Amino acid sequence: MSHQFVGKSPPAVAPRSQSATARARWPWWRTPNRRRNDWQGQRVWLIGASSGIGAALASALLARGASVAVSARSSDALKRLADDAKRSQHASGDAIVLPFDATSAKQWAHAHAELTSVWSGIDMVVFCAGAYAPMRAWEIDAAHTSQIVDVNLRSVYHGLELIVPQLRKSRTGALVMVASVAGLVGLPNATVYGPTKAAMINLAELLHSDLRDDGIDVYLVNPGFVQTPLTAKNEFPMPAIQTPEQAAQAILRGLAAGRFSIHFPKRFTGWLYLLRHLPDRVRLAIVRGLMAARQRPGTKAEISP
Ligand SMILES: NC(=O)c1ccc[n+]([C@@H]2O[C@H](COP(=O)([O-])OP(=O)(O)OC[C@H]3O[C@@H](n4cnc5c(N)ncnc54)[C@H](OP(=O)(O)O)[C@@H]3O)[C@@H](O)[C@H]2O)c1
Repeated sequence: MSHQFVGKSPPAVAPRSQSATARARWPWWRTPNRRRNDWQGQRVWLIGASSGIGAALASALLARGASVAVSARSSDALKRLADDAKRSQHASGDAIVLPFDATSAKQWAHAHAELTSVWSGIDMVVFCAGAYAPMRAWEIDAAHTSQIVDVNLRSVYHGLELIVPQLRKSRTGALVMVASVAGLVGLPNATVYGPTKAAMINLAELLHSDLRDDGIDVYLVNPGFVQTPLTAKNEFPMPAIQTPEQAAQAILRGLAAGRFSIHFPKRFTGWLYLLRHLPDRVRLAIVRGLMAARQRPGTKAEISP
């Protein structure tokens, strides 16, 4: 099994006692993460793989020879993905079907134990599970809110609690945090979804700095609109919308380039990064303008991120 990366990747990380040396060996002009473009034999655990971006990314990784453990609640969809990969002439990697509910710490522990009994280690974990429901400020409903927070955020901490110690011990590996450009700016209808993704962006940044000297890469993925069951709830035209396959390719390109922030398509996400950096009164006025085009309190919301 090869765990080598090609390109101008930083060198192997020094033992813990030499972490100062490791830091010195990682100068600011290098890419923030290793360039990952050799997937042969890489062991990737992908949570949120039953549909949309996660399913497309799992298929793309399998096609490049990675071993992919696919997780989500829908075991039938995961089995279909694994069977399709087995039948495909293009997929050279192995799929392991590992269904579980990521909002349950107990199920995380069980799935992790099951996976580590098959694999001697994990090279990458992709946190891609997500839930979204359009909601305006006057529509907040606590039960619904906690369900979205549980999937988009709490589940990630359950996973990190298990995975980070293991990766730190092996002094290698990667975490891929799938957030959203909805986490960059407060957008209409993302009343719960947006804050969970903002938290994910923040979390990815601090994980990167905390784990850098342990040899662990942390990649942040901020997609624009992608045509999936999640965005099927949106009843408005979504600018620059991409297919899940295009999204998967963009993620692989970002990983191959060793980027920290992987966002796409840039013709859309670039505007949101720009908006994020505008002065408050300009940014808030632009967002208010977007809101004003939407329905008023007492009517049903029709727009989402
Ligand atoms: N589509 C977009 O435009 C867009 C834009 C920006 C960011 N994103 C992010 O991209 C990620 C993937 O979204 P998507 O658009 O591909 O949506 P999707 O097709 O609905 O995929 C969501 C995935 O999360 C899984 N999931 C949901 N709840 C879960 C739970 N409790 N335990 C385990 N898995 C769970 C779903 O599987 P089960 O239902 O089978 O459990 C599914 O595999 C999400 O984090 C989303 O926020 C999407």
